[in-house]
Amino acid sequence: MVDKARRSVFVCQECGHSVPRWLGQCPNCNGWNSLVEEALPEVRPRGGRRASAPAAPRPLADVTASGALRRRTGLAELDRVLGGGLVQGSIVLVGGDPGIGKSTLALQACGALAGQGLPVLYVAGEESPEQVRLRADRLGLAGAGVLIVAETAAEAVAELIESTRPAAVVVDSIQTLHSMALGSAPGSVGQVRESAALLVARCKASGVACFLIGHVTKEGALAGPRVLEHLVDTVLYFEGDGAHALRVLRAVKNRFGSTNEVGVFEMRESGLAEVANPSAAFLAERPVDAPGSAVLATLEGSRPMLVEIQALVSRSGLALPRRTAIGLDAGRVALLLAVLEKRMRMPLHEQDVFLNVAGGLRVDEPAADLAVVAAAASSASGRALDADLVVWGEVGLTGEVRAVSRAEARLREAARQGFGRCVLPAGNARALAGTDGVVVHGVATLEQLFEALALA
Ligand code: TYD
Ligand code: MG
Repeated sequence: MVDKARRSVFVCQECGHSVPRWLGQCPNCNGWNSLVEEALPEVRPRGGRRASAPAAPRPLADVTASGALRRRTGLAELDRVLGGGLVQGSIVLVGGDPGIGKSTLALQACGALAGQGLPVLYVAGEESPEQVRLRADRLGLAGAGVLIVAETAAEAVAELIESTRPAAVVVDSIQTLHSMALGSAPGSVGQVRESAALLVARCKASGVACFLIGHVTKEGALAGPRVLEHLVDTVLYFEGDGAHALRVLRAVKNRFGSTNEVGVFEMRESGLAEVANPSAAFLAERPVDAPGSAVLATLEGSRPMLVEIQALVSRSGLALPRRTAIGLDAGRVALLLAVLEKRMRMPLHEQDVFLNVAGGLRVDEPAADLAVVAAAASSASGRALDADLVVWGEVGLTGEVRAVSRAEARLREAARQGFGRCVLPAGNARALAGTDGVVVHGVATLEQLFEALALA
């Protein structure tokens, strides 16, 4: 039995069984580590009245869609990912690795909103107000119009939102908050969920837009794995590797816009700078006339981008040669190397192969296949590809080259960046021939690719 004084129970996330104390194993379904603390709902007396009248249904046709009020934050790349601006009363979860720049982005958004005369509340759970002030100085933000508070009690934050009525609130980070209703430590699944639910309810009720900042755990899930994603309206991931300055902001869920948008930033001494021309940024340090480098036209969401794929193929002294792929799917790379070996009779089984997407970007679409193959073949043969060449296309197991989506957008981006020639799937080329002053060269097989690239 649950005793009366207790305000929380531990509920198994697998089977729903509840126990009064934390246990390592659920006594009902025997699942390990599945018990999470939850606040007990307030019990309504039996036969008591409902607290509020039921909502009245109305015809869908009578509902006006203009209800959502959108504001531009002033950071164009952030606005783009949000779907055109920040919606009043919406909850935005910003996830990413520690040190990637989440706090910087949030503070810059605060500064931009405050610059428009909108009051903003910054709840600092990780840093002291002095530290945030130092960062603001570094970013060149005056700090006027931004209220800051160091507070980690969720109930207190909810009260502050009520009493200060800002246009937007930033909670940095959701993992530092704790709710008084629960006894478990801040950062635990129960605490993160309970605190977030409390703030979401309060922000929705008062029309305050809210940025919740969350760290990503080693497994790649937001701590309090996935528990927040259904609570919030928008989930943004801030990605990039620490060694590079380029950062990509990606929407993985958006109730107020498409999830196809990405924003690109560069981390500078003075904070995050927006990158309006990502292709130029990703190609900035491309070597000229070096074997093993191919330019790929890829799609990040709906945005075409040119990136450099690099390959190094060298003789291996190992019985099992090395295969390393950074920014590419390792399984896909293994498949492509096997196709090259079998169809093009390249002796890759005695060679180490290293592949890399320059600039720290991750490319996950099959359209990258042709560029991977071209880069690897170029490195293996020691012959550089033409400097004004762009490649894309999917490669099948028999060495056939398959058409991919949005070829026209890719071609236009290649033209915009001043490239003169595209080697692409024959299936795409038929619909495109000669567009935008770029020479289009369709290939249907790997043999034709090698011919087109003069690698045969
Ligand atoms: P931060 O926003 O604190 O990351 P997060 O909140 O995601 O943990 O930013 C961390 C890194 O950014 C830090 O290593 C220093 C760097 N940085 C700059 O290069 N320039 C700047 O102007 C700022 C504020 C930070
Ligand atoms: Mg931070």
